[in-house]
Amino acid sequence: MNPLRLAIMASGRGSNAKALMQWCALRSDVQVECVISDKKDALVLEMAKNFDVPAYAFPVTKAEKSAQEQLILKTLKKHKTQWILLAGYMRLLSPEFLRHFYDDELKQNRVLNIHPSLLPLFPGLDAYEQSFKSEEKQGGVTVHFVDSGMDTGKIMIQQSLPKQAGESLADFKQRGLSLEHQLYPQALEKILTRSL
Ligand code: GRF
Repeated sequence: MNPLRLAIMASGRGSNAKALMQWCALRSDVQVECVISDKKDALVLEMAKNFDVPAYAFPVTKAEKSAQEQLILKTLKKHKTQWILLAGYMRLLSPEFLRHFYDDELKQNRVLNIHPSLLPLFPGLDAYEQSFKSEEKQGGVTVHFVDSGMDTGKIMIQQSLPKQAGESLADFKQRGLSLEHQLYPQALEKILTRSL
C-alpha cells in the first residue's frame, strides 16, 4: 500500500509539526510530503529541513490571498497531497481552496486543525489564556475538520486539560502543548485506520 501523503501548514515554531514528523518517520503507512508556511522566517521551515521534508514559504503580499492560495495549491498538487494538517497556521482558508480537498464519502474536507481549547469554547486567538482565565474547571485540546469558519469545523477528537491548583498560565500552556503532541498523532491514527 502506498503511504498516505500529508502536508503540514504552519506559521510559527512548529512543535506540533515536529511531533507529527517524528511520529510519521516511524511508520511506513504515512508520509509528510511537504511543510508550507505563510511566513518566510517561520521556525517550522527549519524544523522540516531537519526531517528532510521539503519546506516552502508563501507569504501574502498586498492582501493577495487568492494568489497565495493558488501557489499553495500548486505545491500541494505537485506533492500529490491527500490530507492537510494545520498546525498553528494563522490564516483562514477560503471555500475555493478547501473545495479541492472535499471528500464526498466523508462529507468533510480532508483538512484538519489542532486548537488549544475544548471547542466550541474559546475559538480564535489566545485560547489557552482564555480557558485559563475563565470559570471553567478545565481547558482542553481539539482536533477538528476545517471549514472556512474560525475553528468551527466538525470535531474529530478532543481531550480535556483539568486545571491544577496553583499552576501558572505558562505551566498550563506547557501541559497543553504536550497533550497536543499526543492528540494530533491520535487523530492521524483514526484516519489511517478509517475510524472516522
Ligand atoms: C498550538 O497551540 C496549536 O494548538 C495552535 O497554535 C499553536 C501552534 O504551536 N493552533 P506550534 O507552532 O505547533 O508549537
